[in-house]
Amino acid sequence: MNIVSKLPAVKESVFARMTALANQRQAINLAQGFPDFNPPKELIENLYNAASSNFNQYAPMPGVLNLRNEICNRLLNRYHFKANPETDIVVTAGATQALFTIISAFISKNDKVLIIEPAYDSYVPAVISNGGEPIYISLKAPDFKFPLEELKNMLERHTIKMIMINNPHNPCGSILSKDEMESLRIILSDYQGIIVWDEVYDYLVFDDLQHQSALLYEDLMTKSVVVYSMGKTLHNTGWKVGYTVSNADIAKEIKKLHQFTVFSVNTPAQQAIAEFMSANPTFFNALPKFYQDKRDFFLKCMEGLSLNFYTPQGSYFALADFKSWFQGNDEEAAVKLVSECGVAAIPLSPFYHDSYDPGMLRFCFAKKEETILRAAEKLHQLL
Ligand SMILES: Cc1ncc(COP(=O)(O)O)c(C=O)c1O
Repeated sequence: MNIVSKLPAVKESVFARMTALANQRQAINLAQGFPDFNPPKELIENLYNAASSNFNQYAPMPGVLNLRNEICNRLLNRYHFKANPETDIVVTAGATQALFTIISAFISKNDKVLIIEPAYDSYVPAVISNGGEPIYISLKAPDFKFPLEELKNMLERHTIKMIMINNPHNPCGSILSKDEMESLRIILSDYQGIIVWDEVYDYLVFDDLQHQSALLYEDLMTKSVVVYSMGKTLHNTGWKVGYTVSNADIAKEIKKLHQFTVFSVNTPAQQAIAEFMSANPTFFNALPKFYQDKRDFFLKCMEGLSLNFYTPQGSYFALADFKSWFQGNDEEAAVKLVSECGVAAIPLSPFYHDSYDPGMLRFCFAKKEETILRAAEKLHQLL
């Protein structure tokens, strides 16, 4: 049989490659973005209790109602955003499924989707497999500032059906300021397409900075859908629970596809999370400090290396410039680091369609102190 791939350019991802290499070398894996510590014990007990209490059959298609209610309470408390749990929320199998479903719901053949690079690796394959055409603008080293002028020019030159914006940003660790959001608002005031805000790291914002969610801007929310991930906030990425927030018209289209792709998401996990959120309404508020402490500990441990670390304002990733240590490209640097030091990190170039290589590696600091210490020890021996 002659298989014609819908995604001929997709190869094994850089995450899979680096993880395989890390396992082979028994290295400390700071490459993939997940915590090496457990979710709260109460949450795990809730999962057992939910499964023991008959929450084992299909959940309602848009999500368990008490979870949608808890999500709406969270949005109201944090962003003063009033969402209707009946119409505006879709619980998904993680943010990745949310993103794929949103793109599939709105993107048809030859529709242009604006990707701001470096970008989370699921965006482009989702656009291409729906026949869409990704077009790009880039955040460039060293400050990775949002290129507002370029966005304006792109909107003047092209008919763009969808814009993907990730804030706080993986892998750069940057966040949008209030001024930047105000400028975006002006630039996007006549925009007729859909804006997808990937806000999975919305609590991971440091140094008393405020996350500028799209939910704070009523005019943007007429044409936006915002995506969140429980995995990033409850330290349970493997549970794969996320959700979308939008107006009812947009949610209706997302649900049309959601019902035929996953239909409904893991019932006991939804139930467990809903009960946890209800019993611990302030849990999320402690996350900025929890992760800022990790960031500061990580950066302190990495002081004095010939890797030059940048201080991220958000997310759980830190970028390091490796050029004073190694003159080759970033993929070679990542391979050298894992082979010689036993620490795995991710090169930046695979996040760009044109393999732009600013000479940087991305490290995940969502790790136990002992893991960070062991990684630092290994790095200090060689660098
Ligand atoms: C920017 C961004 N969006 C989406 C996701 C996917 O989240 P989930 O694990 O809930 O699918 C990730 C995970 O790393 C991410 O970094």
